[in-house]
Amino acid sequence: MKKIIPFNQWYYKEEYHDSDAGNSSMEGMTAVTVPHTNKEIPFNYFDEGCYQFVSCYKKKFHWKPAEGQRVFIRFGAVANYGEVFLNGQRLGEHKGAYSAFELEMTDALRDGENWLTVKVDSTEREDIPPFGYLVDYLGYGGIYREVELIVSDMVYVEAMHVAPVDVLSDNIRADVKVFLNSMSDRPKAKARIRLLKNGEPVHEVDSAVDIQTGKQVFELSTGPLKNITLWDTGNPQLYEMELTLGDTVITERFGFRDISFRPEGFYLNGNKIKLVGLNRHQSYPYVGYAMPKRAQMKDADILKDEIGVNIVRTSHYPQSSHFLDRCDEIGLLVFEEIPGWQYIGDDGWKNLCVRNVHDMIMEGFNHPSIILWGVRINESQNDFELYERTNRQAHDMDTTRPTGGVKYIERADFQEDVYVMNEFQTGHSQRRHRDQNISTGLNYDVPFLISEFTGAFHPTKRWDDTSHRVDMALRHAWAHDEVALDDRICGAIGWCAFDYNTHYQFGPGDRVCYHGVSDMYRIAKKWTAAVYQSQKDPSEGVVMVPATLWVNGDIDECGFLPMYVFTNCDYVEFYYGDKLARRLFPHRRQFAGLKHAPMYMDRIQENIWDEWGWEDATFVGYVDGKPAITKKFAKNPIPHQLSCTADDHVLKAQKEDEPYDVTRVVFEALDQYGNSLDYMMDSIEFTIEGPAEIIGPKATTMQGGCIAAWIKTTGAPGQVTLWARTSKLESNKVTIRIE
Ligand code: GAL
Repeated sequence: MKKIIPFNQWYYKEEYHDSDAGNSSMEGMTAVTVPHTNKEIPFNYFDEGCYQFVSCYKKKFHWKPAEGQRVFIRFGAVANYGEVFLNGQRLGEHKGAYSAFELEMTDALRDGENWLTVKVDSTEREDIPPFGYLVDYLGYGGIYREVELIVSDMVYVEAMHVAPVDVLSDNIRADVKVFLNSMSDRPKAKARIRLLKNGEPVHEVDSAVDIQTGKQVFELSTGPLKNITLWDTGNPQLYEMELTLGDTVITERFGFRDISFRPEGFYLNGNKIKLVGLNRHQSYPYVGYAMPKRAQMKDADILKDEIGVNIVRTSHYPQSSHFLDRCDEIGLLVFEEIPGWQYIGDDGWKNLCVRNVHDMIMEGFNHPSIILWGVRINESQNDFELYERTNRQAHDMDTTRPTGGVKYIERADFQEDVYVMNEFQTGHSQRRHRDQNISTGLNYDVPFLISEFTGAFHPTKRWDDTSHRVDMALRHAWAHDEVALDDRICGAIGWCAFDYNTHYQFGPGDRVCYHGVSDMYRIAKKWTAAVYQSQKDPSEGVVMVPATLWVNGDIDECGFLPMYVFTNCDYVEFYYGDKLARRLFPHRRQFAGLKHAPMYMDRIQENIWDEWGWEDATFVGYVDGKPAITKKFAKNPIPHQLSCTADDHVLKAQKEDEPYDVTRVVFEALDQYGNSLDYMMDSIEFTIEGPAEIIGPKATTMQGGCIAAWIKTTGAPGQVTLWARTSKLESNKVTIRIE
């Protein structure tokens, strides 16, 4: 038996005393639901010491122990250190904020009332990666991923890994590794594996295994399979492997796919594809890492569907299983890496680093979306011995995926399967694309992937002036253009997807790095997002984003030119007032590699303003000779509407101990033509009615014409209504049903 019980309602206080482990008193504690941040922080300008303290979580529960029953507690993640006690008895500890850990409770459990205490240390302890020196992101604090109780019989199935093997051959099969922790011997126990596709069994194998007391791994295999649909980015077909061992039935989802990084490019299932991606930090405004399933999944959707990348790097640590699950479901490739940032600590620290490789692969193994394990501390110096160990750890555990390790110094030790480089010369304004042989220092080609570019070289706020914002978009466009033209680069992953909170040493001092293609609220309205969006095929959606505010006073030298249009249209007609002033075509001379080159307009008729007067502008995009999209800009934009849009209209109510649900609501100030008022900084006040609450402040300011708020359910079902008001505008109301 393996039964999983959600265990997310706790009591919390912002302090910890040794006596807390030994008493069940909840005095001075507040009821909280996990995912929980130990401290809500402001959007920016806060002291990052404010959440770095030791806190206490407690939980009371009733239990009836039974003969032959074992009970475990599993923490999805505790930042940065957790020590766990049951009824005053120490169960164990875990160092590191980015991996799950399980502790057995069986012997300490009592009949009747029990209490758990967790000491949570959220300081940047230098014995725990990534800490010890400066880090360009925050570690936050708290029990920030879900907690579960696991009830098992004496034979505890800890995990099951399913590996697709010989995928491109007639011998395609799945090999299964079962990780056991048994308290009894079971000679010749029956083990059955069943392969399921869309819930239907398609193949079954019965075997017998000798189970011995203690930890043990046994292997099973489906043998050759027929009619397998491969997992692909366009058709992410998933399968399930079900294991029946005695009374225990466990199921793992996986996919069949073949990955190959070669000197001449990246191949998925034998087909060459260029990797086009962004880096993701898992942090959100106010609550840091503490966001539940729906928000995690939404990030994957934003990356794949809204922005349009095919790969994400989980910089710089393993991320939520909900995020990875969603990547599996939608076909978004993942490069996952261990926690770290430039610094390597002492021997104990290095041991944790190797263990982090182990934990990352243990947890991530079955995700078909993961195509590369990052086994090197991001941008660290060489450490041959350490990286021998991390590479060996990964290869011992997983023969189906290559390793990579993100470097930034030229000619760094190449110990992994893929040479991965943060190439800040790619997409540089001077377009000084560096050849891979210069980066690697090798006189032969190797599988080569760019893991970062742009980022701190051109931080951009959504409300920066036009030229600055265009420049950021161009750098991303140049980078992907250069990479598209170089077959010896597997792809490029830009820095980064979302703006993120950081330490004062980075960014403009306000504790935010504005390096995202999107802001921290995931409002993807920097024009850089349009560079990615416009690379889609028009059949997936016609994109046309003129990078202009259609004003005369936001660009040097007074005017609205030069102007770029990011689009997948064949050509665009530009109307000045009602006069056709220019027909624009993809600027192939500047962008020979991109599938859909941006369009460029550097002049129209001389003195057009004097002769024609200042008029509205209209852009009409054509696909296959037909008008496919139109955008109009007002000559005198005025605040017209405050739009309020929710990502979801139905959320889930909670039974006891389940995590809460969330959704994001985006507010945008729009002009009379529905265009954003990018410099609107009004105050905004949210109103919510019903069984949900707003995460973060209830009143704040618009940031460049937009802002978002996440709302979280409070448990009960019902109807929630949300709207907002600025000094000039009142929004429409959105209703969300909680079921
Ligand atoms: C890189 C680093 C990232 C981020 C980025 C900003 O060097 O790996 O974490 O700091 O710079 O450009």
